[in-house]
Amino acid sequence: MLFSATIAGFLLAFLAQGSPVPTEHNKIGGVLICNDPNGQGHCEYAVYELEKCYNLPPALVNNAATFAPDDAPFYCYPYLTACGGVCKSPTGCTMGAVSSDYEHKFNLTEVGWNKYITSFDCHLNKTGDATSQ
Ligand SMILES: *[C@@H]1O[C@H](CO)[C@@H](O)[C@H](O)[C@H]1NC(C)=O
Ligand SMILES: *[C@@H]1O[C@H](CO)[C@@H](O)[C@H](O)[C@H]1NC(C)=O
Repeated sequence: MLFSATIAGFLLAFLAQGSPVPTEHNKIGGVLICNDPNGQGHCEYAVYELEKCYNLPPALVNNAATFAPDDAPFYCYPYLTACGGVCKSPTGCTMGAVSSDYEHKFNLTEVGWNKYITSFDCHLNKTGDATSQ
């Protein structure tokens, strides 16, 4: 009894402390984007179509430290340039593929990208598929 009460107390304390990270979603194309790390500040969550470029809304453009794709088999490429923009960098103007496994998805400040995302597109991750670029 005492033991379970302790556990319950711990859980309550843990919950009361409050995880700033919103409820986990697991939709293909679902992405949480926020101004600040750990899902804080102004956030927008939506389920986006794959293979389609989206410009970030005004409240988030060049100001997104959280870019967290849902836990589902897809990944996104955040871009420096707006959709249809001309990229002059050999690196493709993207920070690379970001999936739910990406370790910095809740703090892009760690990789210096919190002031750079302007647009993104997402793609199905066909695991085991021979990717032909
Ligand atoms: C995010 O990363 C930056 C740079 O590493 C760090 O200074 C900051 O404390 C981190 N923020 C959070 C909420 O973890
Ligand atoms: C695709 O999924 C596999 C298996 O989960 C993973 O190892 C790989 O990193 C993913 N690719 C991308 C681009 O996220």
